[in-house]
Amino acid sequence: YPRLSITRDQITMPDQAVKGKVAIIGAGDVGATTAYALMMSGSVSEIALVDIDHEKAEGEAMDLRHGAAFVKPVNIYAGDYEDAHDADVVIIAAGASQKPGETRLELLERNVDIFHDMVPRITDGLADDAVVLVVANPVDVLSYVTWKVSDLPWHRVIGTGTVLDTSRFRNVLSKNCNVDARNIHAYVIGEHGDSEVLVWSATHMAGVPFDDYCPVCDKDCDLNNRDLIADEVQGAAYEIIERKGATYYAIGLATTEIVESIIRDENSILTVSTLMDGQYGLEDVYLSLPAVVNRGGIRRVVDLDLDENEREQFIESGELLSNEIAKLDI
Ligand code: LAC
Repeated sequence: YPRLSITRDQITMPDQAVKGKVAIIGAGDVGATTAYALMMSGSVSEIALVDIDHEKAEGEAMDLRHGAAFVKPVNIYAGDYEDAHDADVVIIAAGASQKPGETRLELLERNVDIFHDMVPRITDGLADDAVVLVVANPVDVLSYVTWKVSDLPWHRVIGTGTVLDTSRFRNVLSKNCNVDARNIHAYVIGEHGDSEVLVWSATHMAGVPFDDYCPVCDKDCDLNNRDLIADEVQGAAYEIIERKGATYYAIGLATTEIVESIIRDENSILTVSTLMDGQYGLEDVYLSLPAVVNRGGIRRVVDLDLDENEREQFIESGELLSNEIAKLDI
């Protein structure tokens, strides 16, 4: 069963109270939608929107502010990199996004250059208890780049990873099995991308392992549904981008979930992208595993008891990303 791995020295927790301030770097579809989701959540008191197109950031901030009467008080404004320096969480959503049919890894070359320029502007002068949350794709490699370039402690540089994919998996299972997604425990781990891994062995329906639930379920779907379910989860972004050009609502909600766990010190277990420290033999690469997320960033990583097939897929996913990292001049 899952064991909480304490594979690193004690994580230093911030001693000062949170300000409830988030800075979002990149006011495009994902950044603006995340600002909207945070505003609706009522969990933050200040949002600085930073973009190279300052007018765009101003327009988004104005549009959001005009909804102020309908949500809890939150100060939203267009800012610059200095406004990120006293934030509790800095979200990096800036960068090129996938075109129809383009893989996330194919964005790497364009976005690495942007990150090399942008990250020091964010992290030089950053508060010593702030957490940096990377959303831009390919999120695992860009989280690694952010960690290396910023020289911040590993536990304060997090990627949204497969938090969105885990939600997609639970949603597809919910539709397939006619069960409320909130009663389905399931994880997607590994790369936020084509090599991601659906952890069927850890999937539970109201506490009943999926393998035990199927035979007693009142639906008569056949078990090779699993491949169809996996295809739907792993292909979701391509299908959406094909139809509307980009994805932003669900990733905005996933990002908000992670921010809330940090700012409210919730210790939620989320499949965020984090630095591997020997898990399944993987090191020096960012990849998603269930991790306890709180005010200090990543508190612990949960080593899942994967079956042989899942373990092999996870290691393949890690090696794929390690190879991408090896090509970079960081
Ligand atoms: C997606 C983007 C966020 O999966 O990678 O929708």
